[in-house]
Amino acid sequence: MLTRSRLGDQPSGVTRGAARPEKTDGSAATDSARREANVTYPLATKLSKVSFNTFYSNIPTQEENDDYEFADYKPTWPKLDWAPLKEFRHFDVGHRADPEKKSLLSAATKVDHLTPAIGTRLEGIDLRNLSYTQKDELALLIAERSVVVFENQDINIEEQLELARHFGPLHRHATTAVPVKAGLDEVHVVYSNGRTPADFTGTTRLELYHSDVTYELQPPGTTSLKIITAPTSGGDTIWSSGYALYSSLSPQLQKYLEGLEAVHSAAAQADGSRAAGTHVRREEIDTVHPVVRVHPVTGWKSVFVNPGFTRRILGVPKAESDAILALLFNQLATNPDFQVRIRWSKNQIVFWDNRVTTHTGIVDFFPQRRHGLRATPHAERPLSVAEYELDYGKKSKDRQKEIWKQHGYDAEAEENKVVVDVSKAVVYND
Ligand SMILES: [Fe+2]
Repeated sequence: MLTRSRLGDQPSGVTRGAARPEKTDGSAATDSARREANVTYPLATKLSKVSFNTFYSNIPTQEENDDYEFADYKPTWPKLDWAPLKEFRHFDVGHRADPEKKSLLSAATKVDHLTPAIGTRLEGIDLRNLSYTQKDELALLIAERSVVVFENQDINIEEQLELARHFGPLHRHATTAVPVKAGLDEVHVVYSNGRTPADFTGTTRLELYHSDVTYELQPPGTTSLKIITAPTSGGDTIWSSGYALYSSLSPQLQKYLEGLEAVHSAAAQADGSRAAGTHVRREEIDTVHPVVRVHPVTGWKSVFVNPGFTRRILGVPKAESDAILALLFNQLATNPDFQVRIRWSKNQIVFWDNRVTTHTGIVDFFPQRRHGLRATPHAERPLSVAEYELDYGKKSKDRQKEIWKQHGYDAEAEENKVVVDVSKAVVYND
């Protein structure tokens, strides 16, 4: 039995014994006496009204018939039924790219690495004009930097989908919204209409960190989101690097995690959709993936679990699975060393490698509107360390150690030199 605790499973009844009114003789009031006195319980009332919508898109309301310029791209949930997805052989175009990425980077007027771990902003590039070679190099840059940002892009959604197809066949989401405009089933709409504030009574902030649709057999790789309507302030997105999370762990824990697999489940998302009254277009599945995956192009190891969809680690006691997942979720969501926070502006597009990152949108912008369109190419079935090393005949790597080595610091050699002198092991950091 899988845990379905995040979305859609609202309590059927709420008991708040301590808060209940009592008669003056000390005995509990009867239900009918409470109804007669019109006594209500605020928490219970609120929970009974919670519906699934904070994670993705608001369902547009009747009164929303305004003259919004992007009405064609508002969300809708068509009543379609799609067959289960089948496994296919994926080739990552980053394999073909020049390791120096000269064609792409020389075309940029500025290359700005936002943090050492994750995130690069490129200026001076129009995504509509990328050559075949530059697209391959962009895939490699995204694989290495995990998040790549472009501002003021006039690329339309059809062109964004076409560019995304260069990276892989496009995913169609089973439960989230597609645009009202016909023929765009491969687009995932991100939409908040500014009419309803975020509701956190059904979920914690940490639980909203996720990688997209990791329950699929071949979850997405080089994903892109363009924001077409941005709040003046708020609605940023945070991405957290799975490479950096892996690098932060002890060699002992790294080794342990490399041998594990975890269950990723679509059940809670599908249940949440049904609870909100929208149609589930493809039957939900559970899929087992390695806890540490290797990116096929970089050869770097990344922790591949996320609070949104990873439910348990297989083959270990549940208490151990819960503790390990809690550690990893807590680290990816709260450790700023792994993260980059991107502020959006209209016509900004961000690419991320969904294989090696988790992310979350900040829902602090009520009552403003925020609207984006996502293109989501499938990648390979996640490769464990053993599978990568067998398939590619190469050793997988720790990204941090590789980069330090390029700067002349050999972390492994240094680790072997360390002699712990307990008499000197007291460090103050006031
Ligand atoms: Fe997402």
